[in-house]
Amino acid sequence: MAFVFDPMGTTVLITGASSGLGRGFAAEFARRGADLVLVARRRDKLQALADELSERYGTTSTVIAADLAAPGGVDEVVSGLEGRGIRIASLVNNAGYGVAGPFLRSSSKDATGQIDLNITALVKLTHALLPHLTAHAATKPGTGVLLTVSSVAGHAPVPDFAIYAATKAFVLSFTEALAFELKETGVKVLALSPGPTETEFFAVAGNDDQSFGPRETVDQVIQTTFRALDRARTPASVVSGLRNKVQAVGAGVLPRGLVLDVAGRVSGR
Ligand SMILES: NC(=O)c1ccc[n+]([C@@H]2O[C@H](COP(=O)([O-])OP(=O)(O)OC[C@H]3O[C@@H](n4cnc5c(N)ncnc54)[C@H](OP(=O)(O)O)[C@@H]3O)[C@@H](O)[C@H]2O)c1
Repeated sequence: MAFVFDPMGTTVLITGASSGLGRGFAAEFARRGADLVLVARRRDKLQALADELSERYGTTSTVIAADLAAPGGVDEVVSGLEGRGIRIASLVNNAGYGVAGPFLRSSSKDATGQIDLNITALVKLTHALLPHLTAHAATKPGTGVLLTVSSVAGHAPVPDFAIYAATKAFVLSFTEALAFELKETGVKVLALSPGPTETEFFAVAGNDDQSFGPRETVDQVIQTTFRALDRARTPASVVSGLRNKVQAVGAGVLPRGLVLDVAGRVSGR
């Protein structure tokens, strides 16, 4: 089967590939014939995924276990690529986490840790690896992507998820600006905003009570993403799921005070 977005024979680096959406991205890129560089902290999970995808699709995966939020974590990944002579065509900035609860009661580690991973590591990795993407696209335009994972939470302030929502607003704004800057390069640039999705996210966040509403499956979010990538003119931003789209559009057009009020109620305030 021929895909419009065809990364066959290219290499894609996916952060946060040990679970949830990252695993889903890895499987779809492998199904489309790409080789993978899988990054997260849990090496055993990455290796198990690499083995599974190799058996299923015959793809080669390189595993780099690294804590991207730690000082030197991104450098480890970049030097891991250099040491192996790997040049990538696509970068999926997916690793991220949130911590639920009032800011006033959050630990300093949680408050800044989300920024370290969701923003600082993402910007550092993008800065280091974007030249790979533009060099690849110069010869094979449209076959590589800078994909970042924002969130529907990035479209509005979210009380009790204040830092997380703010980091995702950064990711959305940063990616949309890069989409414009890079539009003549042949690199597709896409910010994905999932809504609540069935992954380890809510258990990690310390809020697994379904209060944010029905959850999509990983497969649904991956399908939304690749439908956008399969478009000749990939949009700079896509929201997964009708309910989440309505929420994101509403947040953009309604008065900010009302948006904040509604978001506060959804958070149970
Ligand atoms: N699930 C949702 O409802 C939802 C909604 C909107 C947006 N998102 C976003 O989607 C992205 C993927 O999350 P998910 O839902 O798939 O959650 P997940 O299942 O918890 O996956 C998070 C991934 O990030 C990795 N990670 C966490 N901390 C890391 C660190 N310090 N260094 C390297 N890797 C790290 C984890 O691997 P290790 O633990 O092995 O390091 C894991 O692979 C995140 O950016 C999240 O904010 C999720």
